[in-house]
Amino acid sequence: MRNKLIAGNWKMNKDIHESANLIDELKHKVTTNEKVGVLLCPPYISLVIANTLLKDSPMKLGAQNMNDKDDGAFTGEISARMLKSVGCTSVILGHSERRQYFKETNEYINLKAKKALASQLVPIICVGETLEERESNVTDAVITAQVKGVLAGLSATDMEDVVIAYEPVWAIGTGKTATTEQANQVHKLIRKLVAQMYTWAIAEQLIIQYGGSVNEKNALELLSQSDIDGALVGGASLKADSFAAIVKAGVEASK
Ligand code: 13P
Repeated sequence: MRNKLIAGNWKMNKDIHESANLIDELKHKVTTNEKVGVLLCPPYISLVIANTLLKDSPMKLGAQNMNDKDDGAFTGEISARMLKSVGCTSVILGHSERRQYFKETNEYINLKAKKALASQLVPIICVGETLEERESNVTDAVITAQVKGVLAGLSATDMEDVVIAYEPVWAIGTGKTATTEQANQVHKLIRKLVAQMYTWAIAEQLIIQYGGSVNEKNALELLSQSDIDGALVGGASLKADSFAAIVKAGVEASK
């Protein structure tokens, strides 16, 4: 059975002091086991202190984005090597907010995924349809194009380290969650696509997270679905009690 992965995407929230306080609280409140990985993705400026504070914790550290280049004249950008140097094990790539506000394309996200893998960072690659796309019944076509685009050229070995996050754009920060059936259906589609591109064995070991208004109330039901292997949590990851409860739901669902 696949392990679960609960990740907190703090987005552009928490300065360095607030980050340290939240991590302190999380260290007291979050309990997990070997079947449920926990990942915190604070803003870049908090990664160094987070790495120090998480030294003896089972919680791991991730970033919210990175550049696809090694180094050079790219003002304001951060490379995979830099993330490694502050203790990151993972990086979120192609979040819908980056697709929407920073015009990131599947091709560009694919380049970043390749760089992350070459740098021993686990890429958490996000896909998801907009409300307009869902209402026009093109969800499957959109997800198919995204999955094929972001995974293009990745080897079977690469796939052992890839995580995919399905985040329907209309469910992000809106309080609207996809129903468990809607979510599980898309997760199954993603797994089938990966099986077609690689093998069923690779598809079966792939962790596919759900993201979009996950909270302590809906987490257990979502995480109990056959193909939902974790959660990428936004708003609720900023409150220690809520995030700890979501991790607890993950532990429960993994039994
Ligand atoms: P919310 O949990 O705030 O809806 O955000 C989801 C998300 O975008 C996580 O990456």
